[in-house]
Amino acid sequence: MEVDAATLFNALGERYEDAYADSPGLLQVTEYVVSKLPHSSHVLDVGCGTGKPVAAALAAAGHTVYGIDVAENMVRIAASQVPGTFSTADMRTYTPPVKMDAVFAVYSLFQIQPSDINKVVYRFAEWLKEDGILVLGVTPSSAIVGGKGVHDPVWDCMRLKRTWMERPVSELYFSQTAWLNLLREAGFAIEVEKMFDYIPKDPKHKRTETHYLIVGRKLKPHPLLGPYPLPEGLPGKSMRNEPAWRRLQGHLFLKDDEKMSSVLEGHQTILDIGGGLEDILDTASTRNKSVETLATLFNNLPYADAQFDCVVATMILDYIDDLRGFLLEVVRVVDKSSSNARVILIQGAPYNEVQRLVNTVCTPLSGKNMGPAHQGMLLYSAMKILADIGFGRTSFHPLSTSYSFDENSPSDRSNELAEMLCDVWFPGEEKHEQMKQQLISPIENLLRDHPGFLQNELVILEAVLDDH
Ligand SMILES: C[S@@+](CC[C@H](N)C(=O)[O-])C[C@H]1O[C@@H](n2cnc3c(N)ncnc32)[C@H](O)[C@@H]1O
Repeated sequence: MEVDAATLFNALGERYEDAYADSPGLLQVTEYVVSKLPHSSHVLDVGCGTGKPVAAALAAAGHTVYGIDVAENMVRIAASQVPGTFSTADMRTYTPPVKMDAVFAVYSLFQIQPSDINKVVYRFAEWLKEDGILVLGVTPSSAIVGGKGVHDPVWDCMRLKRTWMERPVSELYFSQTAWLNLLREAGFAIEVEKMFDYIPKDPKHKRTETHYLIVGRKLKPHPLLGPYPLPEGLPGKSMRNEPAWRRLQGHLFLKDDEKMSSVLEGHQTILDIGGGLEDILDTASTRNKSVETLATLFNNLPYADAQFDCVVATMILDYIDDLRGFLLEVVRVVDKSSSNARVILIQGAPYNEVQRLVNTVCTPLSGKNMGPAHQGMLLYSAMKILADIGFGRTSFHPLSTSYSFDENSPSDRSNELAEMLCDVWFPGEEKHEQMKQQLISPIENLLRDHPGFLQNELVILEAVLDDH
């Protein structure tokens, strides 16, 4: 049975530093970044290990260093030998206390499943200041010899089980192109790439490894609106089958309740267009609030002017005829005299697992429907329109939800899920059965990554009035 990252690195401790810290290639890239950073920068080392060499070099250059690692033994060692703030945390759920000038994630992404790799790269971009620097240290899939890995076409990566430092590990490798694409899609310009061979200084683990370091510079202010570049113009209206969508939504649950509750705080009269709030919030979260749910989409909202202090629309921008007309209607029913007047739009995140699955596997087989549209483009267009009509103060936040399928056996689950997804976006299509069959294996992969659920990561756009 493969060991997880925390178990592996808690056991290795200083042995990892002894084997890997003395890497000329890594030291050179770290020095390059140090030479580019403003004085007294804030820098985060993600998967910092023992803090040597990266965090130590940054601290020695006078920067304020934060380090996180999932292995508490590594955090203890780093805190004992490098000045900085070190904490035990998982990068997939962590949020830094301040915006960073640089984020390093060096050799810490091997044991993370593919949609989470996509997610953390977008999140690193979010954590950076404008023009901030991201440094990734990885091994490209081309360096994997012996053909032992299994290629996953949905994410264009190799999944590999092997022995590393005498322990069985399960690892993930993207190709060089996939890494460069991911960084560009998350809004980075590539500044430096350095690929080199390295032989660890460990008597029991002496073999040549290929290390690949990439330095990216943040270009886009709103990474969550990716993948970049945005398409030119809005996509056409998509189609979805509402009864099938409702069936899928029946499996939805919210992972970070705190975020949603804080967004709704202070609102008394809420209009929930699309039924998204009803799907994800339990009744306790909306107690003492008046929530009106409008599940069916109308061109004109059947409400009086200024009837609500907050309107929430979840996962519907793909399916309306006229985005501007819709948002004018939304703003009409918001009470602009309320100090809390707010429009909240919720769409898929650029690393949304379900949409990636459907768009990679099914959309190319469809003659009619394009599946979920570019979610960032929808939110970007909505942001521009809302700014035109007075709601110009916008912010974006990630929201984690999942589709949970605990009740069935794993094979039934993959079948049922494949059927459900095809039914939502491609009902009655000629190649429905082919789509379903081709979805089963990637769904099985995902259910192995995280048994019992599919991740459905979302983005919240919050817009308030210019003068509030
Ligand atoms: C190969 S070591 C590299 C350490 C350091 N970055 C270096 O270059 O010396 C990878 C580190 O990432 C940490 N790590 C792996 N997965 C992580 C996660 N999900 N969140 C935070 N740290 C993680 C491991 O515990 C380990 O200490």
